[in-house]
Amino acid sequence: MDMYEAVRSRRAVRGFTDRQVPREVLERVLSAAAWSPSGSNLQPWRIYVLTGGPLVELKKRAGKRVAARDPWDERQYEMYPPNLKSPYRERRSAFGQERYSALGITHEDWEARQRAAAANWDCFGAPAALFCYIDRDMGRPQWADLGMYLQTVMLLLRAEGLHSCPQMAWSVYRKTVAEIVSPPDELILFCGMSIGFEDVTEKYVRTGRAPLAETVTFVEG
Ligand SMILES: Cc1cc2nc3c(=O)[nH]c(=O)nc-3n(C[C@H](O)[C@H](O)[C@H](O)COP(=O)(O)O)c2cc1C
Repeated sequence: MDMYEAVRSRRAVRGFTDRQVPREVLERVLSAAAWSPSGSNLQPWRIYVLTGGPLVELKKRAGKRVAARDPWDERQYEMYPPNLKSPYRERRSAFGQERYSALGITHEDWEARQRAAAANWDCFGAPAALFCYIDRDMGRPQWADLGMYLQTVMLLLRAEGLHSCPQMAWSVYRKTVAEIVSPPDELILFCGMSIGFEDVTEKYVRTGRAPLAETVTFVEG
């Protein structure tokens, strides 16, 4: 797959079929993604891959917490700044509108929005997921390294005909994830990532992007 096509066709897919993802494909993708860059080559990502019984068990336990309206686990990092300022606030609300309008959910329908959000903890039906941890001693540059790594994984998944959805949502049920993967104490869960084949019947609105001039400045001679 052409690089531009991989970038353009990657999107956060929120509906997967139950078609299994072969172990050798996941190994091929993760072996290649290991070549992602990181400051001083620290390679600060620590990845757990879940499929089969362990993933079913995780979804079951998370589903029980959702059904019981169990409080979220205390935060190990803030997902967003508390008072999101312009233009980020507007971009976030545009995203919310796009996401819920695709599902026919109005802004006022809190219950329906909660139901849609709960699909996160079923990995949107995906048969495979990874969980990306980082050592709590690591700083912002190493968290940025995780982003590069995860994007590399997502693009390689496209090359394999697979789709993905990165999910910070898993951080709020991080203790449930830890019950399944037993990470060492020094690790913090950054995010999960659902992986699988797209369910093409799932409705979505393609997210937009700010015009180039809003985010890029050419300083030319
Ligand atoms: C670090 C990270 C965490 C994300 N967490 C979630 C999540 O918990 N649930 C979800 O449905 N989407 C999540 N997303 C997907 C974003 O909403 C999505 O990438 C963004 O709206 C742009 O849309 P696109 O990826 O389809 O182009 C996350 C994306 C990133 C990069």
